[in-house]
Amino acid sequence: MTTVGFIGSGLIGGTVARLAVAAGYDVVVSNSRGPETLAGLVAELGPKARAATATEAAEAGDIVVVSVPFHAHARLPIAQLAGKVVLDTNNYYPERDGAFAELDEGKLTSAELEQRELGTARLVKVFNNIFHAHLATLARPAGDAERSPLTIAGDDAGAKQTATEFLDAIGYDAVDIGSLAESWRVEPGQPAYGPPYGNYPDPVGVPVSADKVRAAVAAARR
Ligand SMILES: NC(=O)c1ccc[n+]([C@@H]2O[C@H](COP(=O)([O-])OP(=O)(O)OC[C@H]3O[C@@H](n4cnc5c(N)ncnc54)[C@H](OP(=O)(O)O)[C@@H]3O)[C@@H](O)[C@H]2O)c1
Repeated sequence: MTTVGFIGSGLIGGTVARLAVAAGYDVVVSNSRGPETLAGLVAELGPKARAATATEAAEAGDIVVVSVPFHAHARLPIAQLAGKVVLDTNNYYPERDGAFAELDEGKLTSAELEQRELGTARLVKVFNNIFHAHLATLARPAGDAERSPLTIAGDDAGAKQTATEFLDAIGYDAVDIGSLAESWRVEPGQPAYGPPYGNYPDPVGVPVSADKVRAAVAAARR
């Protein structure tokens, strides 16, 4: 059985972990404060879940979900992530993360910067543009008329295939928007960031078609 490691198990990481366990995956969750602080989440997730350090979660994961504030990317366990598929949920918010000149000047996307630092890890940007509550409520089985797609961006075709299969298992189709360089199209402030899945305060969200998501991605401007 595939194990999914989580570096960061907060609002979005915790939501993906719940969907993964519901789909039958084993999960290893981690945060910055230590495994003992995740006892509540592990109890909720049940026997398919355990808590560990971030380094151990990276080591244990066949796939690793990285869902930390962007500024924490500099402290990721690079050696343990080497060669692995990393599903990266991160967004760059200068007011939270501090300023990164290359990002502010539009020279790189935040996902490219993270990929550069991670070396051989095979990064796919996904889950970054959907509110965590909508991610929880909009999951649907394959073939359901109300099934929604999530966007994926990455430079490694095999990693994107793995991401697509993982999304399929947890209740989502995938819309491939291209390389990490193209991922600015789903960054904060762009039309595909949030609204296709419903308005931010609404806890339920709205199912959305692949055509609508593609149209929102195509409407991106910078
Ligand atoms: N919230 C959303 O709806 C949403 C949606 C899409 C994307 N995102 C993006 O996803 C990322 C996570 O957001 P979130 O809302 O889930 O944040 P959150 O609820 O604050 O959770 C962040 C998680 O990262 C952990 N963490 C922080 N530094 C770490 C480190 N150095 N090593 C290991 N774990 C670390 C935190 O652990 P501690 O609690 O122990 O510090 C916590 O488990 C952000 O980049 C955000 O912009 C959020």
